[in-house]
Amino acid sequence: MNLRILVTAGDGIGPEVTNEAVKVLQEVMALGGHTLTLDHKRIGGIAITTDGTPLPADTLAAALASDAVLLGAVGGNEFNALPPDKRPEAGLLAIRSALGGFANLRPAFAFKELAVNSPLRPEIIDGADILFVRELLGGLYFGQPRQWDKAKGEAWNTMRYTRDEVVRVARIAFQLAQKRRKKLCSVDKANVLEVSQLWRATVIEVAAEFPDVRLEHQYVDAMAMHLMNRPRDFDVVLTENLFGDILSDESGVITGSLGMLPSATIGGKVNLYEPIHGSAPDIAGKGLANPIGAILTGALILRHTAGLEAEAAAIETSVRKVLSQGFRTADLARGNTAGLAVLSTTEMGVKVRETVKTMVVSA
Ligand code: IPM
Ligand code: MN
Repeated sequence: MNLRILVTAGDGIGPEVTNEAVKVLQEVMALGGHTLTLDHKRIGGIAITTDGTPLPADTLAAALASDAVLLGAVGGNEFNALPPDKRPEAGLLAIRSALGGFANLRPAFAFKELAVNSPLRPEIIDGADILFVRELLGGLYFGQPRQWDKAKGEAWNTMRYTRDEVVRVARIAFQLAQKRRKKLCSVDKANVLEVSQLWRATVIEVAAEFPDVRLEHQYVDAMAMHLMNRPRDFDVVLTENLFGDILSDESGVITGSLGMLPSATIGGKVNLYEPIHGSAPDIAGKGLANPIGAILTGALILRHTAGLEAEAAAIETSVRKVLSQGFRTADLARGNTAGLAVLSTTEMGVKVRETVKTMVVSA
């Protein structure tokens, strides 16, 4: 097959980590006898600086013409004083909305090899494997009206959902649960918010289509605690936009580093793939960034867009193998280098590629 990927590397460590992800994808595709067509466009702070807008029209056009978009990260300290609609993040929200993917899949799982990296005790996290399904196009992020009225000293945002928006993301979450451990936990704040009452009632309605999936509901505040106390009890976790943003970062603690985690946004015209971590401007350009989140994001492109499950799994297995051999980026070694080899961003990419070569049977 031929897979056309648009790479929007963005800001900070985005270019370094996507570069490694792309090289792993090239290796795997070539081994499988497939071709990969790459295009590169600007988004975020780099696009503001060069083109005067965080999402230039040619970036969006190229995105819509591709099979998948691989995004690095956006944001930088020099843009922090700008209003929300002028910031690098506005480019990300605009591309999410234009591509139309409403279901953001964010796995949070424990790597046995990285158990010491988590502040949670190993017996708590061992075997934890959660898949967040975060609604990505509604709620407070996009609800109208929104404004900061400086004269009045007042600002407001609107948390708004339609029944249809909840139905479509809930169906995806139930379908994913059917392929996993058949448990779904829906998160809301139905004891306070009408929008959460609509959310809960709609999820209960959709549940009737999936009698084999066990559904539970948790309030978001309690869920924040349960995730740290008993992460193993959760399988698929369905959330609205902001709750998912917060809980998925929190769950990075289970893995020990946000730098390990990938995400995929599906359900729209073109799927959008991005590691969960940010642009980390403090370590950008130093070869310190961990490319594994981006590399595992590449695996999700193969799984969810290309339908190349074996190749996706080969990348994931390679990452585990490299970790089990004691290779770490600096963030993962955390100064505790006994028995570990600390690698730069590119060296980690090389290790994963060398390993994946031994796993994919060439066509
Ligand atoms: C994320 C990020 C984004 C979000 C920002 C950068 C707009 O935090 O992907 O989790 O809030 O969705
Ligand atoms: Mn976030």
